Order: sequence, then structure tokens, then C-alpha cells
Amino acid sequence: MQQYSKGLLWVISGPMFAGKTSELIRLYDRTIYANQKSIIIKPSIDNRYSNEEVATHDNRTRKSFILNDIEELTNVIATESPENVFIDEAQFFSSKLLNVVDDLRKLGINVYCSLLNQTSEGKAFPFMDRKDTVATLLVKADHIETFSAVCPLCGKHATKTFKTESSGQEVDVGGSNKYEPRCYEHWEPKK
Ligand code: TMP
Ligand code: MG
Repeated sequence: MQQYSKGLLWVISGPMFAGKTSELIRLYDRTIYANQKSIIIKPSIDNRYSNEEVATHDNRTRKSFILNDIEELTNVIATESPENVFIDEAQFFSSKLLNVVDDLRKLGINVYCSLLNQTSEGKAFPFMDRKDTVATLLVKADHIETFSAVCPLCGKHATKTFKTESSGQEVDVGGSNKYEPRCYEHWEPKK
């Protein structure tokens, strides 16, 4: 059986309501069953459901480290010595995440990132400092899982996120109060 080498980069990508965080939790759990040391981190901007945990839309949770800046991860690695690092909402860190991920991989640490691949306008999601986008992380990945949601208008695969009411803000934390998954046909770019 072929295996990934140590220092794997695995990306979970897709629109909102596709089960990205659920998948991150599934992958995390299976490393725990294998008695591996794993940690989950997420950016502090996303406080929708919980302040100390990652949470799915249906509120399944796991303990996580909440970081204001991706560079804080260096200290967490020093104290926790994980074999696997799971990053939720990777798009909400700065582009420094790209270097931090490279550094972890060089240490042989496996990195799993869950991210929103595009904005409600259909652009590659920019990192918070706007110096790069998640597209750069996607091309670095050894393995990409692309998830889709279900379009509430026609029941086909929803690969896009539609903003129900325009706010003018590209970064606009929220859930079903602001966003819906949509198929390409029923989606229109809106910020
Ligand atoms: P989710 O992928 O875990 O559902 O979370 C996506 C987060 O991103 C959520 O807080 C809404 C936010 N978001 C934006 O800030 N801008 C966007 O264009 C979109 C589609 C989502
Ligand atoms: Mg999520």
C-alpha cells in the first residue's frame, strides 16, 4: 500500500455548509485512535460557535488552540510536540501561514488544513494580510479533498457560497444568517 511521507500537507477545500470542519474532525479523530499526538488550531476571528473549540455547523466540537497570529503556533509546537497539526479556517490567518506550514513539514509534522477556497464573489480567498491567497496553499498540497454542499434551489452540487444580503465586506464572519451554498447556475457574485 502506498503511503504519504511524513510532512504531509492535506487540504480540505470547498464552500460553506459542505462539511469541511466535520472532515477535519474525522481526520483528527483517526489519528487519536492511532495514539498519535495531534492538535487542532483555529484563528481567533472565527468565534461563531465557541471560543476554545472547533465547531461544525451542527455544533460537533473538539478542543483547539485559538491563535491570534499563525506565528504563535511555534510556541504551541514547542510545548505540545505534535505529530499532526490540524488547522481550521486557514483562510483567516495571514499569508505567513504558508511559511509556517513549510517549516512544520520540514520537521516531519503532518499538516491538515480546512479552508474556504473562495469568497462569495468567487475569488480565491485572500489571506488576511492580502499578500497571497489560499490558492498558493492548494498547489503545495500532497492531497486535496474538494467538498460540495447541496444547492437549496435545485438540489444539485453547490460549489459556491452565496451571500444572501450584500454587506460590502469581503471578510464577514457568519453562518446561515448571511450565507447559502449554491450551484454555479444559481449563484451570483456578491460581497
Ligand atoms: P465555514 O467554511 O466553516 O462555514 O466558515 C466560513 C467563514 O467565512 C464564515 O465565518 C463566513 C466567512 N466568509 C467570509 O468572511 N467571506 C466570504 O466571502 C464567505 C463566503 C464566507
Ligand atoms: Mg467550518
